[in-house]
Amino acid sequence: MGQFTGNIAILGSGNIGLSLAKGLVKADYVKADQISLTRRNINKLKDFADQGFGVSTDNAAVVAAADVIVLAVLPQQLNQLMEEIGAVININKHVVISVASGVSCADIRNKLAEGLEVIRAMPNTAIAIGQSMTCVASDNASKEHIDEVTRMFETVGSVIKINEDLMTSATALCACGIAFFLRAIRAASQGGVEIGFHADEALKMAVQTAKGAADLLLQMQSHPEQEIDKVTSPKGCTIAGLNEMEHNGFSSSLIKGIKLAATKAGELYTKG
Ligand SMILES: NC(=O)c1ccc[n+]([C@@H]2O[C@H](COP(=O)([O-])OP(=O)(O)OC[C@H]3O[C@@H](n4cnc5c(N)ncnc54)[C@H](OP(=O)(O)O)[C@@H]3O)[C@@H](O)[C@H]2O)c1
Repeated sequence: MGQFTGNIAILGSGNIGLSLAKGLVKADYVKADQISLTRRNINKLKDFADQGFGVSTDNAAVVAAADVIVLAVLPQQLNQLMEEIGAVININKHVVISVASGVSCADIRNKLAEGLEVIRAMPNTAIAIGQSMTCVASDNASKEHIDEVTRMFETVGSVIKINEDLMTSATALCACGIAFFLRAIRAASQGGVEIGFHADEALKMAVQTAKGAADLLLQMQSHPEQEIDKVTSPKGCTIAGLNEMEHNGFSSSLIKGIKLAATKAGELYTKG
C-alpha cells in the first residue's frame, strides 16, 4: 500500500493533534482538505478552517468519512471520545492511530471493536517543525499499515518501531524529554547570565551550543563520551565544570526524572 489515500480524522486538536496536522501538510504528505480536525471548542480552530482543514465538533461524523483515525485527546478524555465513535467504527475500513500516553492497543479495541487495527504513535511537540522523535508500536496491525504509519510520521521527524510494552518509557524519554532538554538549556542560559551575558545573548548561545552537541552525535554517529573526551583537557575547565555538576546530581537527577515520568505516563489512563 502507498500513502494513506483517504481522509485523516484527527480527533482532539490540541498541541499534538494540530502539530501533526500542520506537519503533515507542510511535508506535503496530504492536502489540508484531506484532514478533518475535531475539538469541542471549535472556535479555536478558526485559523485552521481558513487554511482549508475540515473542522467539526462531531467526532462520529468525521470518523464515518475517514479511513485513518488519529486519537489525540488526553488519556483521561479518551473513554468519552471512544463512546462517541464506537458505533461508526468499521474494522474493514478504519485504521486507528493513538497518540494517547499509557493506553494500550488492547484497551482501545476493548472500547471500539475487536479486530480493529490499532497502532500507537508517541511523537513529541517538535513534530510541528518536522523534528519529532516518534516511537511506533502495535500488537495487531499489518506490516503494511505499520510501515505506512512509519512513513507518515517520518514526514515529520525520525521514527523508531518498538515493542508496545516500551511505549510508556518512550513517552518519558521522547515526549516528556523535550521539556527536560529545554529546561537544561534554560539552566545553561541562566548560568550564562551569571557569568556576564545578557539574557537574550545567553539564551542564543545556550540554544546553538545544545543544537551543536545534538548534531555532533547525529552527524558523527558518535557516543556522547567520545565527544566529551574531545572537550575535557587534563586539569581543564570543562572537566572541572562537568564534575561539579555530577557532584550535584546532574546525570542522577535526569535519570531519576525520566524514571518517574515513565511511571506517571503508565498511570495517566487508569488513575486520571
Ligand atoms: N504534549 C505532548 O508533548 C505529547 C506528546 C506525545 C503524546 N501526547 C499525547 O497526545 C494526547 C494529546 O495531548 P496534547 O498535549 O495535544 O493535549 P491537549 O493540548 O490538551 O489537546 C487535547 C485536545 O482534545 C480536545 N478534546 C477533548 N475532548 C474531546 C472530544 N471528546 N472530542 C474532540 N476533541 C476533544 C481538547 O479540546 P476541547 O477542550 O476544545 O475539546 C484539546 O484541544 C495525549 O493523550 C497525550 O498523552 C502528548
